[in-house]
Amino acid sequence: MRILSGMQPSGIAHLGNYLGAMRQHIERTKNPSNQCFYFLANYHALTTVKDKKKLEEMTLNLAMDYIALGIDKENTAFFKQSDIPEHVELCWILSCITGMSLLERAHAWKDAQAKGKKEISSGLFMYPVLQAADILIYKPDQVPVGQDQKQHVEMARDIAEKFNQTWGEIFPLPEPLIEKEVAIVPGTDGEKMSKSYGNTIEMFTDEETLKKQVMSIITDSKGLEESKNPATCNVFKLYKLLATEKEIKDMENKYKAGGYGYGHAKTALFEKILEYFKSAREKREKLKNNQDYVAEVLKKGALKARAVAEKTMDEVRRKCGL
Ligand code: ADP
Ligand code: TRP
Repeated sequence: MRILSGMQPSGIAHLGNYLGAMRQHIERTKNPSNQCFYFLANYHALTTVKDKKKLEEMTLNLAMDYIALGIDKENTAFFKQSDIPEHVELCWILSCITGMSLLERAHAWKDAQAKGKKEISSGLFMYPVLQAADILIYKPDQVPVGQDQKQHVEMARDIAEKFNQTWGEIFPLPEPLIEKEVAIVPGTDGEKMSKSYGNTIEMFTDEETLKKQVMSIITDSKGLEESKNPATCNVFKLYKLLATEKEIKDMENKYKAGGYGYGHAKTALFEKILEYFKSAREKREKLKNNQDYVAEVLKKGALKARAVAEKTMDEVRRKCGL
């Protein structure tokens, strides 16, 4: 099975990113019969990040996050999107068969318009076409993404069909793969966890900041002695995504029994996060002082990816008459 996904380096990775996307990316590298292509979508990040230093820094940080979480595997190409310029070449070709009306339906574009943003770049409008190129160039079977990326993968399917009809069959239609149980990870305010809402919990931040973030989770005002409903509590919802079956049951019982306050639950969640990410946090610290290794992993990944991308582009150019 060939699997592909990308992740934008546009901020500090948070539990929503991990549980909604990164965890399933890493899980899939553990099956040796999978061939995985995962990349840092730095061309896409240019639509929002215009500061050179910031982009470089965020790209490196995200690379370290993935490596610390365990991605450097034999059956995986982990690379920087901009190391494979063929993505942009294919993007142009695909743009010539992609209708404006399809792109006008894209959520990101519609949101930017609805918010009355001035100066929306044509890059943001073209965002789904570049994403289609990212995907199609590796001919993957599956694309594991968070719920909010489903539309982009569906657009990649539409664009692939259009290519196949126009110039001849090249592209298999990719399937989006969405982890149902973690469809949307709530942030500290109960809304979708997102860096743009300032409600994130960052698994690689220092302990003090992590604790502050966990303690800031909003709960109802039930007192310590009162029985509480785990199903509606944000602390429990997050705990459930990291804890074992038994730990979940235990906390559930404590909520219902009363005598267990939200402060207790938050402390348990904080400790759970530290425990869950213990070895990744240690590895991440070491990587900070070993950036040559990070560069080496990305270089190796780019070599593997480029061999596949070049082969597809040879086919594409021939089909189009270029
Ligand atoms: P943000 O909303 O913080 O800007 P991104 O849009 O960069 O995050 O998301 C990167 C990846 O992480 C996407 O695949 C997205 O689906 C996933 N993701 C982000 N936030 C969440 C969340 N709260 N729940 C589930 N998945 C998420
Ligand atoms: N748009 C995706 C996000 O914001 C990142 C991305 C770029 C991607 N290219 C991709 C995801 C190709 C899957 C496949 O998360």
